[in-house]
Amino acid sequence: MEYFSEVRAVSRVRTDCAVVGVHDDRSLQAGAEELDGALGGRLGRLLRAGDFSGRLGETLLLPDVGASAAARVLLVGLGSRKAWGRRNYRRAAVAGAQALTKCAAKDALFWLAAGDVPGVDAYYRARFVAEAVGHALYRIPDLKSARKPPAPKLARVGVRVDKSDATAAGRGVEHGRGIAAGSGVTRDLANLPANVCTPTYLGSYAKRLAREHRSVRVRVLAEAEIKRLGMGSFLSVTAGSDEPARLIVLEYRGGGTDAPVALVGKGITFDTGGISLKDPPGMDEMKFDMTGAATVFGAIKALAAIGAPLNAVGIVPACENMPSGRATKPGDVVTSMAGLTIEVLNTDAEGRLVLCDALTYARRFKPDVVIDIATLTGACVIALGAHVTGVWSNDDELANGLLQAGTRAADGAWRMPLMEEYQEQLKSNFADFANVGGREGGACTAAGFLWKFTDGLRWAHLDIAGTAYLGGANKGSTGRPVPMLVDYLLSRA
Ligand code: BES
Ligand code: MN
Ligand code: ZN
Repeated sequence: MEYFSEVRAVSRVRTDCAVVGVHDDRSLQAGAEELDGALGGRLGRLLRAGDFSGRLGETLLLPDVGASAAARVLLVGLGSRKAWGRRNYRRAAVAGAQALTKCAAKDALFWLAAGDVPGVDAYYRARFVAEAVGHALYRIPDLKSARKPPAPKLARVGVRVDKSDATAAGRGVEHGRGIAAGSGVTRDLANLPANVCTPTYLGSYAKRLAREHRSVRVRVLAEAEIKRLGMGSFLSVTAGSDEPARLIVLEYRGGGTDAPVALVGKGITFDTGGISLKDPPGMDEMKFDMTGAATVFGAIKALAAIGAPLNAVGIVPACENMPSGRATKPGDVVTSMAGLTIEVLNTDAEGRLVLCDALTYARRFKPDVVIDIATLTGACVIALGAHVTGVWSNDDELANGLLQAGTRAADGAWRMPLMEEYQEQLKSNFADFANVGGREGGACTAAGFLWKFTDGLRWAHLDIAGTAYLGGANKGSTGRPVPMLVDYLLSRA
């Protein structure tokens, strides 16, 4: 897919499909008068006739407008002018991209980006278009035996902007393309079934990323090396599994000798709960329990595709959480790499057990900041739902940086409390502390557990249990929070 910014007069541009916005007062978006002129006022007439309401996300394809400027026109509803802003612009771009990829156009020009959107500069207007098109073109790597429908013909997508915005928009589509490639990696890995996407598979996939990008280096550690590192907590989770665990380290180098950002991703390729076995309904969704890891892969992929001028290191503890005769039992006490002992009261609270050792391992990269990403708790889904990612941090600047990146990227997050009171719920009679702290504040006690391992680090924890994937009829990975993370990383560069 090729993306570009387009500034030439409408008479000098020919496109297979012009994508144009319409507000719900049946008025054409700003910046599209020139196009309507080239179409002989046809769009204005159509809107006055009442054929298109402009409701947010509504689309209408006009397949043959018989004009030289555009073979087709795709109308996209922008909703009310009062609510016009970042969120609705993004939703309109997504709706436009989805409809566009269903028609036969080989190229398209988004006039959407030409109009003013309060608080959204040309860079983001362009970036959201590229992200939306990338997202719409994504196909689940399904294992269906029926022949696949032919792939969309779309090969070139432009964003129409003012001359003065050409450079910013060009950068926007490039970054959008990189972010879409990254979240595509995340979605592929997360959507794959757990019998395909094993820890070994993740290790091979990391090596593939390193082959594709010279800026990425990879090391995959096997169980013997993980044992030598003293990761007794991580290893206690894989104890019941026949699939060998892996510790995967990806290094992206684009920024000289700058201290890297460390990204630590929970890589439970399937979470049965272990001996504290989960209830059967919906257990299949626990194949998504490696989405934190997939997010790390996706963010590194995006950085490499963009060529971002910064350094990052991804650390992924990958294993299955299974019951068996060798599995860790409730009440077992394990010793973490940091030397702290943990009473495993519930083997289903396994994410924190693999993450604490990975956080300790992250120290050897002398990172400027450490961010862990994990489908960590069902309690976070109860607290925040599917709309925002939970953020816990011991550093206000880092927390605010992530929250603002989430707002800019329209991939939202919300700050949650990190307090000693939650850690006190983790008291144990038999070890330094337990791995669970009761039902109350479950997402916060999980964060409090990880906090014990981050002394002296600038650290943030992202609980993505609600945002990482959709259930029901649209079951599948969302690719979140790659846009937020990459936005944060780019903002540091
Ligand atoms: N992977 C789950 C968390 C989860 C639940 C993610 C639902 C997405 C949807 C995690 O390992 C887990 O099982 N957490 C337990 C913790 C509890 C035992 C303290 C939970 O949330 O129930
Ligand atoms: Mn679990
Ligand atoms: Zn889990």
